[in-house]
Amino acid sequence: MNRKEFFARVGFGAAAVLVPACIAGVATSCSNDNSSGGNPAPTGVDFSVDVSTGTLATNGGFMVTQGIVIARTLTGSFLAVSASCTHEGTNVNYSASGNKFVCPNHGAQFSSTGAVTAGPATRNLTEYKTTLNGNSLRVFS
Ligand code: FES
Repeated sequence: MNRKEFFARVGFGAAAVLVPACIAGVATSCSNDNSSGGNPAPTGVDFSVDVSTGTLATNGGFMVTQGIVIARTLTGSFLAVSASCTHEGTNVNYSASGNKFVCPNHGAQFSSTGAVTAGPATRNLTEYKTTLNGNSLRVFS
């Protein structure tokens, strides 16, 4: 057996094992819904960020820090939710035009308060409180 034949057989063997597992839903990496996925939402949150510079200085901007995505809406108010998608943990992005959070990995969507509006995620993001004092935005549980 030459090298090409060896890899052809090994590759086929792996596919023969994995494809039925995916079809049967046995392999977790093939799952469409992993409700236990993602990192736990931060608890005991209480920190401040400067919104006079960076992405939060502009309406529609957002940033991720300390496991939380902080967004500035098109009308200038602030939102904060846990950043880790509850499907498999990818950090969500803020879509200013839709005023929602969207996961770039498999497309889950969450409302401005973190509620699931489109799967495959099934659990909400955690919403945090915000208060603005001058240019200092406090984010807290
Ligand atoms: S990680 Fe799959 S939708 Fe977010």
